[in-house]
Amino acid sequence: MSLQGRTAIVTGSGQGLGLAYAQELARQGAAVVINDVRQDVADAAVAAITEAGGRAVAVVAPVGSTETAQQLVRTAVETFGGLDILVTNAGVLRDKSLLKMTDEDFDVVIGVHLRGTFTCVREAYAYFKEHGVAGRIITIGSPTGQYGNFGQTNYAAAKAGIVGMVRTWALEMKKAGVTANAVIPVAATAMTKTIPYFAAAVEADERGEAMPPFFRHDLGFGTAADVAGLVAYLASDDAASITGQAIGAGGDRLEIFSHPTAVVTEYREGGWTYDALRERFPGIAEGHLASVGETLPPLPAELQPQEDAK
Ligand SMILES: NC(=O)c1ccc[n+]([C@@H]2O[C@H](COP(=O)([O-])OP(=O)(O)OC[C@H]3O[C@@H](n4cnc5c(N)ncnc54)[C@H](O)[C@@H]3O)[C@@H](O)[C@H]2O)c1
Repeated sequence: MSLQGRTAIVTGSGQGLGLAYAQELARQGAAVVINDVRQDVADAAVAAITEAGGRAVAVVAPVGSTETAQQLVRTAVETFGGLDILVTNAGVLRDKSLLKMTDEDFDVVIGVHLRGTFTCVREAYAYFKEHGVAGRIITIGSPTGQYGNFGQTNYAAAKAGIVGMVRTWALEMKKAGVTANAVIPVAATAMTKTIPYFAAAVEADERGEAMPPFFRHDLGFGTAADVAGLVAYLASDDAASITGQAIGAGGDRLEIFSHPTAVVTEYREGGWTYDALRERFPGIAEGHLASVGETLPPLPAELQPQEDAK
């Protein structure tokens, strides 16, 4: 058990990916502070971990505010004697295309994901610094934050922002021996299981069967438990030198994302005037402009959702 004696907070861990992370951290020996806005799922998560021989306590409160962040750290310290690992997983969606997205849709998603990550990490890092803990910050991004996605202005902003914060924190936290990384998960959860494209995989999973290799391998889409190993690894002593990274996990796939980097560099003495750009930009850019969005391969006929097959 690689995390024996450690304490972790996992936000939004009443169900889905957060629950899988909390269960895996507990299996590796960590005591876990479960957090969710729903009392029922938070209680069930604590019961599941306790019945499996682990230690867990629930804090039912919405992440976003400094008060909740303080409550989470205080609970970890008062209940389990310290804090070593923070996983900022809580999330909501308010998908709409830009012209339909309200200020509230934007603020809610930014508040839970971006502000919730910021406030919890600030509180945990203050504890790590004060007590000389070589702590672990594991934030949660999304393919949408890496590539963009139709209908997700708010979510793309929050998830890209989280990866931007992680790169900054890796610099700021290095001296204290604290690591900060972003996991980019893909899994069948309440958030993704209603998407028709994934129906055949979700149905197989619900029947207790393995998901078809097309999903697990080609799409990197599997169960929440498939992502949990990476979270436990990043939380362990084995990952002490891994920081500032965005690492994808889903199904059978693991991905290390590049950071944005210039793919073409050109110089012009005196700078780039409009006329100079007009003349030279097309030649310079040819073959180098970045794509947007993720292009998913067409579903094989036998994996088409039932409605479409009719
Ligand atoms: N499922 C995927 O494929 C996928 C892909 C990319 C990123 N993610 C990210 O992974 C995380 C977990 O997603 P999931 O698929 O398990 O979703 P989920 O909806 O199953 O679980 C999210 C949990 O967060 C809780 N929550 C919501 N707002 C909260 C708040 N303010 N404070 C505390 N808890 C709150 C919910 O009650 C729920 O239990 C999210 O950050 C999500 O954006 C998921």
